[in-house]
Amino acid sequence: MKNSIIVGVGHYVPETVVKNSDLEDVMDTSNEWIIERTGIEERRYGKKHVETSTTMGAKAAEMAIHDAGISKEDIDFIIFATLSPDYYFPGNGVLLQRELGITNTEIGALDIRNQCSGFVYGLSIADQFVKTGMYKNVLLVGGEMHSMGLDFSTRGRNVTVIFGDGAGAVIVQPTDDKNRGILTTHLHSNGTYAEKLAFISPGAHGGYYQKYTDEELDYGFPKDVLGEVFVTQKMVDEGMLYPHMEGQFVFKNAVVKFPEVIMEAFKKSGESIENLKLLIPHQANLRISQFVQKRLGLKDEQIWNNIQKYGNTTAASIPIALSEAIQAGVVKKGDLVCLAAFGSGFTWASALIRW
Ligand code: UT7
Repeated sequence: MKNSIIVGVGHYVPETVVKNSDLEDVMDTSNEWIIERTGIEERRYGKKHVETSTTMGAKAAEMAIHDAGISKEDIDFIIFATLSPDYYFPGNGVLLQRELGITNTEIGALDIRNQCSGFVYGLSIADQFVKTGMYKNVLLVGGEMHSMGLDFSTRGRNVTVIFGDGAGAVIVQPTDDKNRGILTTHLHSNGTYAEKLAFISPGAHGGYYQKYTDEELDYGFPKDVLGEVFVTQKMVDEGMLYPHMEGQFVFKNAVVKFPEVIMEAFKKSGESIENLKLLIPHQANLRISQFVQKRLGLKDEQIWNNIQKYGNTTAASIPIALSEAIQAGVVKKGDLVCLAAFGSGFTWASALIRW
């Protein structure tokens, strides 16, 4: 079996910069609070009517395709990870295919719903497909347009101030070099805490999961009628159409699972963490990254953080950071790079790469 290797990277962030002070204007929050609790100074928002998670993904993909030195028609499989898809269905994979103008090849397109760990899950899938010889140029994209689905009133401040828009992409190919490429990937989940960080409505749940929410939320679904509605008036009136997060609970789990899944990758591969060139953690919160850095005894130059500029871009955060680190010349051929993520689901994952 061949190894699989990342041969091209790219990223795109929208032009519009939203500073913490801009959020102070619309909700009860402060620059000091946001920086102290999250490290975030600003984030980017896509432009309505112009940008979506797919179009941003396409821009990142074009950069990755160029970087890999291939043409769009060489791509033989698309994987798109997002929690902010343009449509409920079909998924962003086929929309990206159309946006890139490569429908003539009729390649497969897969959508990933693993939120913050979506990119690492996608990388693991690409790795398996490439290693078995099924595909030779997998395009993997993580893209988010969070700004379209956030509560900009004070009620949503604990979630809204964190998130930003953007996209990142990589091309995964086979290599004959046995010493380079994706060394190992590790995927985990625990659905027990699904509602702790979730975008529940609109959804086809029909009120079934009421029992899992702390307040036994009534979503307003009518009972005993033929057929059901997807969005209820109650959801609209009571602002239920937004993401919900129990921040401290998520934080406490993240700081345990990040180091655990990173060390799992080192143990499995037989590599030593002392030789790690760069850890790229999902950019959830700068305080989480700093905790993980301390726990693992990493120097400042061994960890990449850009949440200060972009906020949390969920499935896009790792490929954006990876692309920036490559552009900055921090990661070079032969370097050991670790990617790790934790988020909604809960799902968490890691990948260790010999660049
Ligand atoms: O990427 C997916 C994974 N996500 C994560 O890993 C996120 C993990 N969690 C976190 O990053 C943090 O929990 C948050 C940044 C979301 C919140 O920080 P926190 O230190 O856990 O704050 P908290 O939720 O415990 O709230 C503390 C106080 C509350 O006020 P009271 O009840 O003490 O009066 C909140 O209402 O801070 C208040 N608060 C805010 N104040 C100003 C919450 N959000 C804000 C805000 N501005 N934006």
